[in-house]
Amino acid sequence: MSISADFDPIAQFRLDGKVAIVTGASSGLGARFARVLHAAGATVVITARRLDRLQELAQQLPRSFPVACDVSVAEQRENLVADVMREFGRIDVLVNNAGIGIVTPVERETLEDFESVLQVNTTAVWHLAKLCGQHMVAQGSGSVINVASVLGLVGSTPIKQVNYVASKHAVIGITKELGLQWARKGVRVNSLCPGWFLTEMTSGMESDEGAKKLIAQNSPIPRMGHEHELDGALLFMASDASTFMTGQEVVVDGGWTTR
Ligand SMILES: NC(=O)c1ccc[n+]([C@@H]2O[C@H](COP(=O)([O-])OP(=O)(O)OC[C@H]3O[C@@H](n4cnc5c(N)ncnc54)[C@H](OP(=O)(O)O)[C@@H]3O)[C@@H](O)[C@H]2O)c1
Repeated sequence: MSISADFDPIAQFRLDGKVAIVTGASSGLGARFARVLHAAGATVVITARRLDRLQELAQQLPRSFPVACDVSVAEQRENLVADVMREFGRIDVLVNNAGIGIVTPVERETLEDFESVLQVNTTAVWHLAKLCGQHMVAQGSGSVINVASVLGLVGSTPIKQVNYVASKHAVIGITKELGLQWARKGVRVNSLCPGWFLTEMTSGMESDEGAKKLIAQNSPIPRMGHEHELDGALLFMASDASTFMTGQEVVVDGGWTTR
């Protein structure tokens, strides 16, 4: 493709006219992702369990629509996607972001602990990708972004959480396989793998001496990430800027997994 004098490489990152769903948008990274997609022009369906938090966010984002949904419940996942299709008739971007973790040594971890994390972090990711993906395949385009973690690539100890590590490794597996299954159907599936970012999930880490030491000693860029440091990766994955990429992980971790 030739480059004219007025060529604007930023234009391919725009999402005007696109419909996006962001799960876990009531706090932390999900709220940020919703703001970023909205700022790039998308209509954004923001979803989580805490409707009051979503409504607060929606007041600041005119093209956003809050929908309460517990992603651990299959019927609520189905209703969410059916409602979005009824309202907007298409889904262009799914950000599978809702997530939880239970920090505990495996000796004290119950079967219920393990299964509850897998339900939100893995089963819901698979199911929402499947439910949205069928509409994306029918329209011949779409981008699914599964928010995994660096803990989908490496282990976590000294912060002990096999439930979380297992769930996020599975998310990367789901991403690879769906990326392959839909590669010839115009639908792309990629994982975003953040390192340590300060949110409700990691609250306290910024002041905990052990956590501070862990990051200072093990992170090549020796600090936690700031939310805005995921903006570029998210927009790249959501938009036409990444039309040749599928089944991949984009890692934004200060170099944590580089060693
Ligand atoms: N922070 C980090 O360092 C980090 C690093 C790597 C990956 N991640 C991943 O990034 C994603 C966002 O996490 P965060 O750090 O932003 O944590 P957060 O502030 O605790 O946000 C988690 C979000 O998930 C939602 N959620 C939890 N359980 C849910 C359920 N059953 N149904 C619907 N929504 C549910 C929460 O909303 P409600 O409580 O309102 O339902 C909340 O909006 C997660 O997948 C996490 O694993 C985070």
